[in-house]
Amino acid sequence: MTIAAQMGSGAGTMKTSLIGAAVPRIDGPLKTTGVAQYAADFHFPGLTHAMPVQSTIASGRITKLDVSRAEKMPGVLLVLHHGNIGKLYRVVPNDFSATSSEARPPFEDEKIYYWGQFVAVVIAETLEQATAAAKAVVVEYETAKPVMTVSLADYKGERKSVSKRGKADEAFASAPVRVDQLYVTPVETHNPIEMHATVATWDGDRVILYETSQGVVNARMAMAQILGVPRENVQVITKFLGSGFGGKLFPWPHSALAAVASKRLGRPVKLSLTRKMMFSNVGHRPRCAQVIKIGATAEGKLVSLRQDYLNHTSFIDDVDEGCGEATPYLYSVPNLEVTSALVQRNTGTPSPMRGPGAVPGLFAMESAMDELAIALKIDPVELRLRNEPVKDEGTGQQFSSRHLKECLETGAKKFGWEKRTPAIGSMKRDGKILGWGMAAASWGAYRFPATATVEFCANGRICVRSATQDIGTGTYTVFAQIIHDRTGIPFERIDVILGDTGLPEGAMSGGSWATASSIPSIVGAVDNAKKTLLTLAATTPGSPHMKADPAKLELTSGRVHAADKHPDSGVSFEEIVDLAKLSGVMGEGKTLATFEDAKTKDMSLHSYGCQFVEVEWEPEMARLRVSRVVSVIDGGKIINLKAATNQIMGAVVMGVGMGLLEQTIYDQRTGQPINGSMADYLVATCADSPKIDVTFLDHPDLVMNEYGARGVGEIGLAGVAPAITAAVYHATGIRVRELPVRIEDLLKSKVLEA
Ligand code: MOS
Repeated sequence: MTIAAQMGSGAGTMKTSLIGAAVPRIDGPLKTTGVAQYAADFHFPGLTHAMPVQSTIASGRITKLDVSRAEKMPGVLLVLHHGNIGKLYRVVPNDFSATSSEARPPFEDEKIYYWGQFVAVVIAETLEQATAAAKAVVVEYETAKPVMTVSLADYKGERKSVSKRGKADEAFASAPVRVDQLYVTPVETHNPIEMHATVATWDGDRVILYETSQGVVNARMAMAQILGVPRENVQVITKFLGSGFGGKLFPWPHSALAAVASKRLGRPVKLSLTRKMMFSNVGHRPRCAQVIKIGATAEGKLVSLRQDYLNHTSFIDDVDEGCGEATPYLYSVPNLEVTSALVQRNTGTPSPMRGPGAVPGLFAMESAMDELAIALKIDPVELRLRNEPVKDEGTGQQFSSRHLKECLETGAKKFGWEKRTPAIGSMKRDGKILGWGMAAASWGAYRFPATATVEFCANGRICVRSATQDIGTGTYTVFAQIIHDRTGIPFERIDVILGDTGLPEGAMSGGSWATASSIPSIVGAVDNAKKTLLTLAATTPGSPHMKADPAKLELTSGRVHAADKHPDSGVSFEEIVDLAKLSGVMGEGKTLATFEDAKTKDMSLHSYGCQFVEVEWEPEMARLRVSRVVSVIDGGKIINLKAATNQIMGAVVMGVGMGLLEQTIYDQRTGQPINGSMADYLVATCADSPKIDVTFLDHPDLVMNEYGARGVGEIGLAGVAPAITAAVYHATGIRVRELPVRIEDLLKSKVLEA
């Protein structure tokens, strides 16, 4: 159904709302016709092409860098390296408004911290010339043995306390039923369709960066600091993003290289990473090892929960994955302790990857809950229901809105859970063994500062502007829906302008918070603009509402009318704007961050959900498939059912990858990712995708914003992997505690026939 059809032909004078509807993306036609410009699509006269030179060792130092041959090759314009890059700066540490992925700017010294690190960059007239010349740069190294094999499980170093209440160890020691296990999640690499890229252009002292960014405002602040130029001289533009999954939250070294090269040459420079570079230079989910100890009474009441986690980081940055995020509040348990630790390895710097912290954290905790349910002989859904807290026991705060129980009950019903027989290998269909497993899910709800403006224009259009960006999730459409809801103006007359730091500062598209953060700013902006418009209607000579009380005027479907009369009796907003001799009437709105707002700063704000998974196991040929997933999400009010469903479905597919396929493997001698291609690093494809049933509970969380929307995206991945391994256990009797599930693990199954 088209947008126009949904709105009906009579929409001209009717109060309609599309909030919650399955509205197709307003940017869909631009994408399907190729009009949408992604960063690397920007071309300018005189555009040059950059190709980085990568380190072939993972640890050591450059002893010689010879660019003489490369410099003489056809089309080569410039070769930048440590010796001639000039001064680049670091960003202020721990400043969330200007974050850089790597603290170290490119070429800062001659040290090598990871395989693939950029050691030089060649700029040439064509990409082919730059690529050829990059291969001709000769680099010699003093090589140290890379640290690649730190055993995370045997770590004996320092630990940081993350959360603590009661006496976890004592309560565990005396608990009647106990689970004590190690869970490991591997390095995973973000594989968005679109490679990271920067196109840099200078005009005098000003630089424009066409970026693959999930946060143009942050990118501008960080790049200004790295380049050492005033922030007003940096503009960052991201009109469309071919997804990011967290890898594009903060700038990486290639952006600075493109900017410096462009300044040096006085010409535009494009630097687009290769797929192979995506595996070494722009982040990954770090390897995590987590020991979970849960103690419970024989009735299944938790008495103790302990989580000691550890992840690797690089030698440049301290990146804590945050696996303990959901642990303190998900269940009621009087004694709890969570600790974290880091080990350094010669890899690139890790970065957030869809659902950082909570997703690997929940793999461990929800796996342990499943093992506990089996030890207790209690149904795993029932075990969770028995441990539902009344408040956030980690902070003592009230939940703003929590419906985990309803998620579990709804999921069980939709999945048909009551038909499950708990014995291993006991369920069969069409000659295949079925495994059924489930897990709970949670993800934080946040609002970050945001500003938007809305303008009623003399040409009858309405413009909304904010420097947030649509990373493929439907943000353009959500903005249009809010404007439509508050003005009645059809989509065809709404212009949503995002993805440019020239606009009012908007929210980063990360942590699933863009929608929740943007809403108050849009609502404020449109309501302020409307107020000015209605005042003008009552004060502008020639207006039919001259001398009316503005409070008794209303705006319906773009017409200003007396609130007690039919909209048709009024006058169009553009006539008022025109009578007042204005080009437009603008309003501005601002969002207060949840941590600054008295209404929210002392509340526990989270989304909840659950995943029910069916696997099919064919033991005679060792084939395992995820065949069916039921996902129930309590994400507050859903603004766009289609975009939200799409987010959860995509996340579930990613969860199949996390459960069964994804793992970045490093050569232990060289530190090189050895499966750094889409042929060797397996992500779940359509052929791997199960039947997916997505349900939203749709309980508005009104402390979050005017519509009660929290955020949906990352929560769709939470819980999928542990539900898969629970289902695998149910089918095969094999408990996989280190992802991904491998055929080698399953061959040990004693369930040999269906
Ligand atoms: Mo998400 S990992 O905050 O893009």
